[in-house]
Amino acid sequence: MSRRRQIYEGKAKVLFEGPEPGTIVQYFKDDATAYNKKKTGTITGKGVLNNRISEYLMTGLADMGIPTHFVRRLNMREQLVKEVEIIPVEVIARNVAAGSMAKRLGISEGSALARSIVEWCYKSDELDDPIVSEEHITAFGWATPQELDEMMSMTLRINDFLSGLFRGIGIRLVDFKIEFGRYYFNDEERIILADEISPDSCRLWDLKTGKKLDKDRFRRDMGDVAEAYQEVAQRLGILPESGPRDLQGPKAMQ
Ligand code: TMP
Repeated sequence: MSRRRQIYEGKAKVLFEGPEPGTIVQYFKDDATAYNKKKTGTITGKGVLNNRISEYLMTGLADMGIPTHFVRRLNMREQLVKEVEIIPVEVIARNVAAGSMAKRLGISEGSALARSIVEWCYKSDELDDPIVSEEHITAFGWATPQELDEMMSMTLRINDFLSGLFRGIGIRLVDFKIEFGRYYFNDEERIILADEISPDSCRLWDLKTGKKLDKDRFRRDMGDVAEAYQEVAQRLGILPESGPRDLQGPKAMQ
């Protein structure tokens, strides 16, 4: 449990100062919010599962050459990550029409896309994370053209890897959101994958039945939310060692 200095508290995570300079401890909460905090709640055990699922996915991505902020998991709810300067752009990759894109364009949810689509949203709670174009991102200086290229090519590789990984456990990766950060090391700057990848930030549908195994169960009041997250962890073969009974885990302390 962290007795470190708190740097930031977000909707699903708390960030603490890490043990060494340039590191951060990410604490995963059970709190859930949707529609920019208009809906709030708790998903028991979510923090423990997301900590473990994000560790698993980021480690797999690192193994295939994607640089990530993940260093190591510290305990049930915390992981050590590299400190980065977050690029204020949410990158969304879509393989199947769903969510805000289906609504915005009047396309029925579940339609397969002829090609994967990458969307960019400006990170701003006040503005509800509006969708923006590459021109907005470079014109307003949120990222350089070179950084955009790197984020785009990494996102496509991440999509390929994660789609295959989830397909292998009977899950369709419908879409997901990722964030990148600038990591400064030895006077060099690199773009690396940051934040988390979990059922909070992905749409995951069972391949056979179409059952939703992600945060849409919370957003849309479908019930069995914790069970869906647990099923994802179970299929990945990474339910916490002590089993679901311990999913509650310790509470954050300052
Ligand atoms: P959307 O269809 O609501 O735009 O969401 C696309 C994907 O991004 C979906 O997998 C959920 C994820 N997402 C987040 O992780 N955080 C957010 O704030 C939003 C809006 C979406």
